[in-house]
Formats: sequence, C-alpha cells, structure tokens
Amino acid sequence: MENKLIAPSVLSADFGHLAQDLEMINRSEADWLHIDVMDGTFVPNISFGFPLMVPFRQYCAKPLDVHLMIVHPEKYVERFCDAGAWSVGFHLEAVEDPLPVLELIRAKGVRTCLTINPDIDVKRLVPYLDKVDMVLLMSVFAGFGGQKFIPETMDKIRFIRQEIDRRGLATLIEIDGGVNTANAAELFAAGADVLVAGSAVFGAKDPEEAIHQMKS
Ligand code: DX5
Ligand code: ZN
Repeated sequence: MENKLIAPSVLSADFGHLAQDLEMINRSEADWLHIDVMDGTFVPNISFGFPLMVPFRQYCAKPLDVHLMIVHPEKYVERFCDAGAWSVGFHLEAVEDPLPVLELIRAKGVRTCLTINPDIDVKRLVPYLDKVDMVLLMSVFAGFGGQKFIPETMDKIRFIRQEIDRRGLATLIEIDGGVNTANAAELFAAGADVLVAGSAVFGAKDPEEAIHQMKS
C-alpha cells in the first residue's frame, strides 16, 4: 500500500493568527499537523512547549504529530501523550536506550516515532524498525525551519524502505526538512510515506494548493 501523507509543520505558522492557520489546515488535504518542540539544548533553538498543545488540539481537527528535539525525552513524552498527541517522536541520539522511552509512549496508546539527524548513521535505526510505528529521517539538521534539503537523504530513504519491505513491516517513513512542491514526488517515489513541510506550506501564496500539489 502506498501512503502519501503531508504533515505541515506549525513551526512556520503565523502564531498571531494561529486559529486561522489551523482552520486552513483543517480545510486542506493535509493529513497531520507536525509539531516541533525544541529545548535550546538538544538543538540551538527554542520553539514552544505544552501550553500550545491546548490551541493545537482545540483548533486542529487533524492528528497531532509531535517531534521532540529535546534532551531527556523520557521526562516529557507522557505529558505530550496526555496533551493530545497522536504520535510522539524523539531523537535516537538524545537517549542511551530508546526502548524504555518508546514503551512509555506505547503504554499511553500513542504511536511511536524514532528520529535521527543527518549526521547519524541510518543503519542505527535498523534494530528498531519493528519496534516503532514510524521512523523520521531529518533531511536538514534539526533546529530551524526554512533550510535547504540535504540530497544524501534520498539514498537513506531507499535503504530504509528496502529494509522495511524486506521484513514485511508496516513502519512508516517520515521526512522532515526542506520539503517542497518541487521535491515531494521524488521523495514519495524513493519510499517516503509522510512528508513534513513548514515554509513550503505556510510561506506559500496558496498554502492549500501547495499541500494539494505535494500530495498529487
Ligand atoms: C526542523 C523541524 C522541521 C521544520 C521544517 O528542526 O523539525 O519540522 O519545521 O521546516 P521546513 O519545511 O521549512 O524545512
Ligand atoms: Zn520536525
């Protein structure tokens, strides 16, 4: 089965008109809302935390896909689950052992995602492919929206796709960073299931049309 899901990243939304931006997401063909949580330690930027989960949940009718770019995710994953996350992901390189953290999320009945930055060997995800609902390959270094897509990501997608298919797994592959209407088709063709797009959606003249184009 082929998935072609689009998850606009709310990091690039207009926070002064958040409800309007979320209503646009509701009207659009977007599948999920991607939520980037940054702590200023794991990444050199701070975004937002729990308080914004309230309006995200209140105004957004689409599943909330939480991407934690934080140290010590084990301390916070349960609170994000309780705050209404549909899936919670954290970075493999942020923990010593991802398994107990994945278990905390799963125990809440929430989908799990394991993420790696571009400088982490993609092979390190292999032992976890049957233990998570999704893997997220960063196609820019986590921390900021609006960066340029790193082309080497393409081979990593193909590698993980092959591994997932060979083992008959249903694990989803999500790609995050520098995704736009020009490279979406190629990313899906390489085996991605979910594309995150921030600036390419919220910076577009017609965001709904941009989402439509990425999906088709
Ligand atoms: C980067 C975040 C991304 C970011 C993507 O650290 O994880 O989700 O919002 O933004 P664009 O699509 O603008 O690269
Ligand atoms: Zn993200």
